[in-house]
This record gives sequence, C-alpha cells and structure tokens, in this order.
Amino acid sequence: MICVTGVSKHFRNETAIDYKDIAFDDGKTYMLLGASGCGKSTLLNMIAGILSPESGVIEINGENMTTKSQKQKDKFRIEKIGYIFQDFKLIPEMTVMDNINILRLEGVDTSSADEILERLNILDKKNKKVKHLSGGERQRVAIARAIVKKPEIILADEPTGNLNFAIGEEVIKALVEISKGKTLIAVTHDERLSKYFDYVIDMNEMTGGRRDV
Ligand SMILES: Nc1ncnc2c1ncn2[C@@H]1O[C@H](COP(=O)(O)OP(=O)(O)OP(=O)(O)O)[C@@H](O)[C@H]1O
Ligand SMILES: [Mg+2]
Repeated sequence: MICVTGVSKHFRNETAIDYKDIAFDDGKTYMLLGASGCGKSTLLNMIAGILSPESGVIEINGENMTTKSQKQKDKFRIEKIGYIFQDFKLIPEMTVMDNINILRLEGVDTSSADEILERLNILDKKNKKVKHLSGGERQRVAIARAIVKKPEIILADEPTGNLNFAIGEEVIKALVEISKGKTLIAVTHDERLSKYFDYVIDMNEMTGGRRDV
C-alpha cells in the first residue's frame, strides 16, 4: 500500500501544493485526473523518491520513503518501481531492444523483453531505432521498459498525452492488462479512459489547492 499523509511540496518558495491524504491499495489500478499544474507529476515524483516533500510522509509497504537517503530511494525505485515518464526518456538513436537492455546497467534481468514486447504487440519492431517508430509504438516501448524489471508499482505520467484517442485507448488497455496484479497509478486527462481503471482520483479535489507564496 502507498500512503500519502499530510504532504506538501514547495518549489523555490514560489508554489506550494498541499495534498490531501491518499492511499493506494496493492494490485489496484488508479487513474489520476486534474488540471494542468495541480501537482500530478510532482506526486508521482515524490512517490518515486525523485522529489521529497517539505512536510508529511509517503509510505510504501510500511517503509517511510521520506526519511531514506537519496541513495536508498534510488535503490528502492530501481528495484520496485516502473516509471513511464511524460516524455518517455527513450534514446531515439538506439533500437527498441537496446533501449530495454540498457537496464542491465542497473542490474535488471531483461530476459523477459521479447515476451513483453509480444504482449504489447511491438515485437516485430525490436531491432528498429526508436526514432523510426510512431508515437504509439514509442509509448509501448516506454511501457515495456518499465515492466521488464517486474516492478511492484507502475507509475505512468500521461501515457496517452501525444496520442489520438483510438491509439491512446489501445495503449491504456495494454498498460492496464500488463499491470495486472501490480499497483498502477496513471495520470491522464481523458475521462473516457476511466472505465479501464479500478479507481479514478480527481487531483483537483485531492490537492488543498496551489498557493503562491
Ligand atoms: N522544478 C520546479 N520548479 C518550480 N516549480 C515547479 C517545478 N516543478 C513543478 N513546479 C510547479 O508545481 C506545480 C505542479 O506541477 P506538476 O508538474 O506537478 O503539475 P501537473 O499536474 O503534472 O501538470 P500537467 O498536467 O501540466 O503535467 C506547477 O505550478 C509547476 O509550475
Ligand atoms: Mg504533469
């Protein structure tokens, strides 16, 4: 379970976001909705241990993420969290397979890559350079790379951001399908996709509001 309790985040004394308390149950899928700038990516970054809150506690399976050192947080993220970033963070000049095999540098066993690419319907693209793929295909590669390390938790920041609805819907269906049994937290602006998730969380209601300080 992921528990967000009493969390607030300040950026260089310009913006402060106060989050209401949220708990994410193991093995469930959550869709996060909310206006641009309400703090969705910031929440995912705090759960992943990339950012730290100024106050409050983020607990994952009883472990307090907030008191860990950055090195411990990085280790936890590498081992337990699959993060699909808003901008993919793929290397365009490298092939699909090389973008996945790069995880070996972090000690990840990538032997399940073919099976995962197959499930995402892009196995035939495995030796293509990412720069030659379509937006939906790139998104699937980013999903495959996050899943290949068999994380307990999958964080996806606008996985359908640049895709048209039909392709975005296919990507979400594939993401939810491949996340079965894991905790999935996905940010998306499109309410039509809510039917694929166990829960929808409206972040406009979950942040006590952004205030300029
Ligand atoms: N590194 C930063 N420095 C200063 N302010 C930041 C930083 N990152 C985020 N913010 C501010 O914090 C607020 C929340 O940002 P965040 O990226 O979490 O929003 P979001 O809900 O993901 O928005 P979007 O839907 O546009 O991606 C915004 O007002 C943003 O300007
Ligand atoms: Mg964002």
